[in-house]
Amino acid sequence: MRVDRFLSNLPRYNRKQVRLLLVEKRVRVDGKVVSDPHSEVLEFSRVEVDDEVLQLGKPARYFMLHKPPGCVSATRDPQHPTVLDLINEPDKDELHIAGRLDFNTTGLMLITNDGAWSRRLTQPQTKLPKVYYVETEQEIGAQYASTFAEGIYFAFEDLTTQPAQLELLGPRSARLSIVEGRYHQVKRMFGFFNNKVLRLHRESMGPLRLDDALKPGEYRALRTEEIHLF
Ligand code: URA
Repeated sequence: MRVDRFLSNLPRYNRKQVRLLLVEKRVRVDGKVVSDPHSEVLEFSRVEVDDEVLQLGKPARYFMLHKPPGCVSATRDPQHPTVLDLINEPDKDELHIAGRLDFNTTGLMLITNDGAWSRRLTQPQTKLPKVYYVETEQEIGAQYASTFAEGIYFAFEDLTTQPAQLELLGPRSARLSIVEGRYHQVKRMFGFFNNKVLRLHRESMGPLRLDDALKPGEYRALRTEEIHLF
């Protein structure tokens, strides 16, 4: 298909805008700037406008992993096993993690090569809840829930966390739902009360729940309907 037709078929651009994008050299096909409206876009061409990927160029792949403790949420690490070491798939270097977890945090980890999908899942603006099971060293006080609902100021980033919901499960255990994924966010939220997190497990991200059939370290491909849930 011609690139001008490919772009004007998208709901976001009309023909005039497409002509302008091409003239302004903002469109890339397979990494090369194209300005000729007749340039060809194939099913597996990668199409970008500015820094946004409109078509991936490769079949999109999506996996759900039950992250075990003691592994790093990175694609490479000189010392420790990584979550990517647990995945036995071709072209692993094209995959990335949608929402990292700390070394000893366990639970749901989503891995994909679709950047737009992982951004939708993780960016705070989409407000998809990330739900964690938490165990702490000290008792969880009655005031935690209202403080978390109001937000906590993180001086390092100079921001206040978005409202979070806390459900007490026992004196030292709770379920926490947050819509962001700031660095060590859950530990820092409990750290506000000088309460150390001893166990942290992610149960779900948006509509995707960790599959009970997956043991720690196991993974599976997402089903088509799971990919399109949000
Ligand atoms: N918050 C944390 O502090 N650690 C995690 O691994 C995830 C959320």
